[in-house]
Amino acid sequence: MSIPKILVFGRVGQVGWELRHKLACIGRVVSVDYPEIDFSKPDTIRAAVRAAEPNVIINAAAYTAVDKAETTPDPAWAINATGPGVIAEEAKRLGALMVHYSTDYVYNGAKPSPWVETDAPGPLNVYGQTKLAGDEAIAAVGGDYVILRTSWVYGARGANFLLTMLRLAKERPELRIVDDQTGSPTTSECIAQATAQIVAQVLAPAGGLNGRSGVYHLTSSGATTWFGFAKTFLSKQPAVPKLTPIPTSEYPVPARRPVNSVLSCQRIADTFGVRMPPWEDALDLVLETLSEASATK
Ligand SMILES: NC(=O)c1ccc[n+]([C@@H]2O[C@H](COP(=O)([O-])OP(=O)(O)OC[C@H]3O[C@@H](n4cnc5c(N)ncnc54)[C@H](OP(=O)(O)O)[C@@H]3O)[C@@H](O)[C@H]2O)c1
Repeated sequence: MSIPKILVFGRVGQVGWELRHKLACIGRVVSVDYPEIDFSKPDTIRAAVRAAEPNVIINAAAYTAVDKAETTPDPAWAINATGPGVIAEEAKRLGALMVHYSTDYVYNGAKPSPWVETDAPGPLNVYGQTKLAGDEAIAAVGGDYVILRTSWVYGARGANFLLTMLRLAKERPELRIVDDQTGSPTTSECIAQATAQIVAQVLAPAGGLNGRSGVYHLTSSGATTWFGFAKTFLSKQPAVPKLTPIPTSEYPVPARRPVNSVLSCQRIADTFGVRMPPWEDALDLVLETLSEASATK
């Protein structure tokens, strides 16, 4: 059997970068990114798929500037809603599996318990609306697809809350951090590992998706607030600034965020056997990677 080909959109993003590493032993990975493909130009998406003719397409590209999307929504709609629909059409034409990432921000956060995939979405901001529209566009095409809704993504590289807070902790005597939004910090590495596990199952000799197309939650287990998350990793640093918990009302930003972003991951465990680690354990691995990297500098 020939080696399966996997096309990854969003090569340099947090998840896209990890995917290339985790998928390398499963198939031949071809990865592309902006500006060689531009999701606001659907022809560039089609050309990339037609050049690669992959067995699996993974879309890790997205417009992730949540606050900026409120004032400049057009690129968010093109990249998060239109682009994924075009990929889904191309995947269906080839009979390829499409894996796509979505977000906790499709929910309104008002539910007091973890969200399940059958809960009604109700995005509070433009980013969430565009991501939900992307999910719906993929489902409407009707090919083989797996949409993984994740949350609070971070890792040892890329633009994320952990790296921003570690930098600010060196620059400021006090950090005031929101303590009334609850969610599950999830590492880009765990997301990529779980994706590789699913792709390997589908590509296995007796594999296939077998009617398992759908939306799945994929986050670390457990939950905390932004303040609790920051306190956990900052307290392990040599010098810690004063940490002050604040309500969202004291940190005004353009986009509203859900109060409760915690997602139940039972469906992905039951369907694909994917079980994610507690967020604290995954955090320790990222901190270890960062300290190894600084030790070798
Ligand atoms: N970050 C989070 O906290 C979070 C939370 C929940 C869900 N998610 C979802 O998880 C997925 C991965 O997120 P991430 O944090 O890895 O994203 P990221 O680091 O922001 O990476 C996004 C990728 O999309 C590419 N991109 C941007 N504009 C593009 C365009 N016009 N055409 C083609 N590609 C373009 C970026 O390229 P450039 O770098 O060159 O712009 C980058 O490679 C996304 O679907 C996101 O919505 C993220």
